[in-house]
Amino acid sequence: MARASRARSWSDMLTTNGCVLLAREHRKALQGPMDSLTPFPEKAILAESLPEEHGMARDTEPADLNADVQRRWDTNAEWWDEQFGEGNAFQRVLIGPATERLLALKPGEQVLDIACGNGAFSRRMAELGAEVTAFDFSPRFIARARSRTTTNADRIRYLVVDATNEAALLTLGSREFDAAVCSMAFMDMSNIEPLLAALTQLLRPGGRLVFSVLHPCFNNSHGTTLMLEEEDREGTLVETLSVKVRKYISSTTALGVGIAGQPVPQVYFHRPISALYNACFRAGLVLDGIEEPVFGDGDSARHPLGWANFKEIPPVLVSRMRLPAR
Ligand SMILES: C[S@@+](CC[C@H](N)C(=O)[O-])C[C@H]1O[C@@H](n2cnc3c(N)ncnc32)[C@H](O)[C@@H]1O
Repeated sequence: MARASRARSWSDMLTTNGCVLLAREHRKALQGPMDSLTPFPEKAILAESLPEEHGMARDTEPADLNADVQRRWDTNAEWWDEQFGEGNAFQRVLIGPATERLLALKPGEQVLDIACGNGAFSRRMAELGAEVTAFDFSPRFIARARSRTTTNADRIRYLVVDATNEAALLTLGSREFDAAVCSMAFMDMSNIEPLLAALTQLLRPGGRLVFSVLHPCFNNSHGTTLMLEEEDREGTLVETLSVKVRKYISSTTALGVGIAGQPVPQVYFHRPISALYNACFRAGLVLDGIEEPVFGDGDSARHPLGWANFKEIPPVLVSRMRLPAR
């Protein structure tokens, strides 16, 4: 493929006439080691301009789409677990710390970990003293999560539950949870409204939901391109990193790669910020905390377009919603 071969050698692309040196279409940097990402992920657009904010592809039955999404995650689960371990750089530097600040957990609190994957953050919350109920719709992820849990096992229960199934969610308890976390998974869900509706029953009054997503503005399913340009400024070559945004406002569904080399592509459901927050507001949750974490001066990526080199542009958005106390 022309695109793939262009990306094979970065040095081939170096020019000194002010033109674009490198451009990488949206890639899901969060899940891989910082330098192991596919420069130009294979991707197919499934649907654009979705009719509703539910994130459903136009010509696909919702149930079929969700089943396909689930099969893809279950196929990738064991491979992902091996790559991700107890948390990659995105988790350790950006998502984990911001989530912990917004959550402000107290020992003994009951917390729901939604779409927990291999349970790395569930284990972290148990270490902080929380009582954790963690679920994912991938049985293989849950099996890996259980086998990784060697300490605080009495404080974590892992379940297989589909977050798009409101009735199944409601079996988790009524007003049971002080807080809920959904790390990097809203953009993987075909429909977030059943989950938000269920949370208004699962959380205690005043309870909080902290969720993180790929930043919809700068790191979205198929509307952003990472850029490295070089300019000759009166004899000095200056390199500039930027993000080109081509599409943002439409909710779109696309195949993409989270970690280079994963067995099968996954399905991403891009929602602009207004769609995300309005879905929360419609459910009765209010926004009361937000972070846009960036890598610091001490972080760098070997890959020229690694997110750790973009110090001014946040690749993830972390938000705290709260169920009003009555
Ligand atoms: C990017 S991973 C994040 C995993 C974990 N929260 C973390 O931060 O490491 C996305 C996870 O969402 C799960 N997921 C996606 N849609 C789901 C759904 N409808 N119900 C439950 N889990 C879902 C996937 O199986 C996968 O484990």
